[in-house]
Order: sequence, then C-alpha cells, then structure tokens
Amino acid sequence: MPPSMQNNAALFGYVDEIAKLTLPKSIVWCNGSQEEYDGLCDFLVGTGTFTRLNPERWPNCFACNSDPSDVARVEDKTFICSRRKEDAGPTNNWMDPKEMKLKLNAHFAGSMKGRTMYVIPFCMGPLGSPLSKIGVQITDSAYVVVNMHIMTRVGDKVLEILRTDGEFIKCLHSLGAPLDINQKDIPWPCNPTTKYIVHYPEDRAIASYGSGYGGNALLGKKCFALRIASVMAKEEGWLAEHMLILGVENPKGEKTYVAAAFPSACGKTNFAMLIPPEDMKGWKVTTVGDDIAWIKPGKDGRLYAINPENGYFGVAPGTNEKTNPNAIAALSKNSIFTNVGITPDGDVWWEGLTEKVPEKIYNWKNQLHDPASGQPVAHANSRFTAPAYQCPSIDPDWENPSGVPISAFIFGGRRSTTIPLLYQAFNWNFGVYMAATMGSETTAAAFGELGKVRRDPFAMLPFCGYHMADYFNHWLQLGRNLPNPPRIFGVNWFRKDENGKFLWPGFGENMRMLKWVVERVNGEVSAIESPIGWMPKFNDIDWGNLNYNIEQYDDVMDVDREAWKKEILAHEELFSRMFDRLPKEFFFMRELLLSSLWRSPEHWSLAPETH
Ligand code: GTP
Ligand code: SPV
Ligand code: MN
Repeated sequence: MPPSMQNNAALFGYVDEIAKLTLPKSIVWCNGSQEEYDGLCDFLVGTGTFTRLNPERWPNCFACNSDPSDVARVEDKTFICSRRKEDAGPTNNWMDPKEMKLKLNAHFAGSMKGRTMYVIPFCMGPLGSPLSKIGVQITDSAYVVVNMHIMTRVGDKVLEILRTDGEFIKCLHSLGAPLDINQKDIPWPCNPTTKYIVHYPEDRAIASYGSGYGGNALLGKKCFALRIASVMAKEEGWLAEHMLILGVENPKGEKTYVAAAFPSACGKTNFAMLIPPEDMKGWKVTTVGDDIAWIKPGKDGRLYAINPENGYFGVAPGTNEKTNPNAIAALSKNSIFTNVGITPDGDVWWEGLTEKVPEKIYNWKNQLHDPASGQPVAHANSRFTAPAYQCPSIDPDWENPSGVPISAFIFGGRRSTTIPLLYQAFNWNFGVYMAATMGSETTAAAFGELGKVRRDPFAMLPFCGYHMADYFNHWLQLGRNLPNPPRIFGVNWFRKDENGKFLWPGFGENMRMLKWVVERVNGEVSAIESPIGWMPKFNDIDWGNLNYNIEQYDDVMDVDREAWKKEILAHEELFSRMFDRLPKEFFFMRELLLSSLWRSPEHWSLAPETH
C-alpha cells in the first residue's frame, strides 16, 4: 500500500472488512502502471482467459470468451436497496438493505478463497476536475482490473487526490467462484447460477456478485456513474445521464456541443464518432464521450458536461470501416475483445466487420464455426474495450476539467414505426415529456423479449437509482432554473417500411439531421409546427449527394394520427405505474398532444405544397 494511504481510515477499514469476509489468498493494491497492466494480461494468458492477438495486426490486444451464462447485464438481478421501498420506485427491483446485506454476506463469505483480491482506486472524470468523483473497487477478477485500467483513471494518481480524508464510493465485486487448494482455474470464472448487482444509495455503496461481464463487473460504469451518481445528482442539483457527448464544428469554425440519450445498443458510439458525408465540406464531429455524461449547471446559467469514462466498452457487431472508422482506429491497438470470434493465427472477427467470414474461425463459445449452422460467430452483445484517447475524433476539450457547454439534447429509441426521423420539442417541458415517454425495441444488451417496444424513459430505465417519477421532476426543476435551457430533439434512425427496410440510411448521413439541430439551436433556421413538435422543412435539410426525395422524406417524417393515438395510450401504461409522484405537467402535455393530433390530418405531411 502506498504510504500516503496508511491514514485513510475509511479506506483501510473497508479493505480490511472485505478481506475478512471474502478470505482471499492475497491482496494487491493496484498502482495503475503499464507494468501492472502488462503483468495482469500475461497472467490472464496463463490462465487461458486471454488469447494474445497477432501483434503485427493487433498490437498489445487480447481476446477472450465469457461463460455462456455471463454475456450481458442482468436487469432482473439488479437491485436498488434504498431504505424506503418508495425511493427505489416501481421500475427498480428493491429489497430491504439490511435483509440484502445478510443475504449477500452469505454469498461473499469466503467467495475469494484461492484468489487474489485487487484494490482499485479509480476516478470517474478527468483527474482534478470539480465534477469528478472517486471510487474504490475491490475485485477478485484480473480481467476486471485490466478493463478498469482502460475504462477509468486508476491507481496511485487517484489515491493522491483522495488523500487521508477524501470520500469514495465503495464498490465490492466478486466472481463468486472460490478456488480450492490445487484447483485449476477456468478461463471465465463466474457463478453460473447466482448473480446480484446491488446498490445502497444512502451508503453510496455497490456490491456485485457472480458476474464478470461489462456493466455487471466494471462497477465505475453503470453502477457508480449512473445508478449511484443519479442519486447524488438529484441531491446536489446536477444530472448523471446515459448519454454520448459530441461537438459539431461548422465551416466557420464555430463549435456546438450536443448530448444524446439512446438506449443500449441503439447507436450512441456510432453517433458520437460520426464522420460527415464527403459533400458536407467544413463540417466536423468530435467525440467527448460515447455512453455516460455528468452534467452540471455553471455560474453562467449554461449546462456543462464531462465524460466520466476513460475508454469505450462498445458493441462489436456492425462496427466496421464504413459504419464507424473512428471506432475501428480506436480499437486497433491496446484493446480487449470479449465474445468475438478468434482465428488460429490471432485475428478477431465479428458479424459486419467484413463481408466474408474468415475461413477458419472459433466462435464466441470457442467452437469451430460451421457456416451451415446459422449460428453467429460473435455474440450479439460482444464488446471491445478501447482507450478513449486512441479515437481520432476525440475532442480537444474531452478532459477539460470544467466540461463542455451543452446546447442541445437529443433522445432516440429504436422504433420501426410511428416515431419520425427528426423533430424538436416545443419547449423544455415538452422535451422532458418526450424523453420520459421514449420507447425502444429491445436489443441483446437489454433484458426482455427481443424486438418488443418497451418504455425506456431517458434511456435510463435500467440505470436510474431512484424513483423514476422523481427523476422526471428533477429534470423539470432543473429546467426552471436555467435562463435559456438547451433545446430538446427527438430522432429515430430505425424507422422501417412495410417490407422491413430501413427508411433512412443512418450512420454518417445522420450528420444532415445533426446539422439542422445545430442550426436550430443557433437560431439560423425556421421550422414547421406539427402536432408533436417542430419539424425541418425539406429544403432546410442539406441533402448534398444523398439521393433522398420528398416522398421518402414524407414517409420517414410521417405523423400517422391513429398510430400516435396508440402511442399516447402506451404512455399511460408507464404513467399508471408511477401515478402518485408523476409531475402534474405531464397530464396537461398529454392532453395537449392528443388535442393537436385530433385536429390533424390522418397523415401529417411535410411536402412543400402543403406549407
Ligand atoms: P451501449 O454501449 O449498449 O449503451 O449502446 P450504444 O448506444 O453505444 O450502441 P452502439 O452505438 O454500439 O449501437 C450499435 C447498434 O446500432 C448496431 O446494431 C448498429 O448497426 C446500430 N446503429 C448505429 N447507428 C445506426 C444508424 O444510424 N442506423 C441504423 N439503422 N443502425 C444504427
Ligand atoms: C449498456 O448496456 O448500455 C452498455 C453496456 O453500455 S454495459 O456496460 O455492459 O452495461
Ligand atoms: Mn450504455
């Protein structure tokens, strides 16, 4: 342990308490050095967890496969254990914290036997930023340590900031797979039957048991930076959001920052790293973050955002040189791949990386891939862990301790029908309503039946650490205190025609929509009033070389009256679950929306002759 730490009684006591409970064979304090990282990667190669990839093609990269029981977050085993059940709200699992601690202690008792216990001091946000916060993760997984090295700032430099009396979030993690003397380890230890991801908001503490994967195990990410931080943010007057942050530079060199919330596996990473189409000369997008934003009002009445993370834990399938060249560059070295396909000569592959599957490849279950089987090579939620600084589009201010000023929020789910490509909320309150009622078809990163629409308010359904209706009120209240709050937009890149074909090409072409957003924010373009919000005129979109005609535009922007009435009924379903705490504004906004739909034509059109 570094000498400066001997006196942080709280930290020392915490580590001691956990060691006595979990009984590891040794304790290692992580210092965050490159030697530590390299040593642990070598160790993981030794245990058969990591495959070192071909160093010429993939310098300093490793790949691994998880246990088939451990491939994504486990929402049904995620708990918010606030003292009062009402504070967790109807959208979170809850258990009395005392009861939960008793239950978990039985699992954690001796759970690290035969393993090393690592103590990882980590910082969420740039070192020394007033918006940053510190956590200490205790884990018995070396895989978690190396991932935390990439995803957060770790080690001695964090202890120096923490000093002897600094506050930290307690993050306990165990794989739940103790080893007997002489028992050989397996490549992906975890507990195949028992998993718990537990949050104690009042204690500012997290306890995760049984899983080694992603958000279940890298506790700085969803557990701390969203679930616990959202509670702190509510109390302290700021926001912890499931949002990417990007900068848009126009041809005059003016910069506008935008934050956008899309549910898991709905395109945040792609949008954050967007490369504008070639015809949009002088426009540039820079990346601040791709998954989480911490946003605080500044003295000037604007909102300032930081990315609390230090790396990307991105969805691999679909990522390629065309869809996301910046991500491909970011993951080209010093990266870790989990649940992708691995070739015998140390190459990796996932669906969509290239057109053709490599001749001989082992799938994510480590079986030789049989093209006739119809089975995918990579798991649909396979991921890369890559350092943020390696992204070519990284924003020069991405580590600015003051954050970047946010001018617009964008919300968007995966919806094959009903929701138009782009619209702007009438005002802040309508924007909050729009975000609160967002729906999305479920993906492999989320829980539930694939492809079914579920309400995912603010893309925060699995990540809000308190009562969802209180969260809506917090957003409304924040807006009341801002003299000129950011404008709020809705997008849907995923609308389809009757034949199931996407109506919008997406990816880089999304820049055409982003440009309108930025021009709206800067007061440079007018809009048309539709029943559900402001919409761009056809001629105000920079179509460039994209062959997109007014009929196509009309289809993708259509407001179908009957479909929208059903949509608003579905809002009711969500509201009725949290009726007692719902902002009263929501009832009036729903009525207003209904009445404007009522007087609108069956299909609301943007064709020029109608406006
Ligand atoms: P988490 O990391 O899980 O929070 O999700 P994310 O929002 O960062 O997910 P990501 O960007 O990795 O989303 C990947 C999925 O979105 C893939 O299936 C992509 O093909 C799809 N996707 C991204 N952008 C677009 C787009 O503009 N159009 C369409 N149709 N699909 C897109
Ligand atoms: C998500 O599911 O939204 C993710 C991946 O970003 S994980 O970190 O595993 O939660
Ligand atoms: Mn996410």
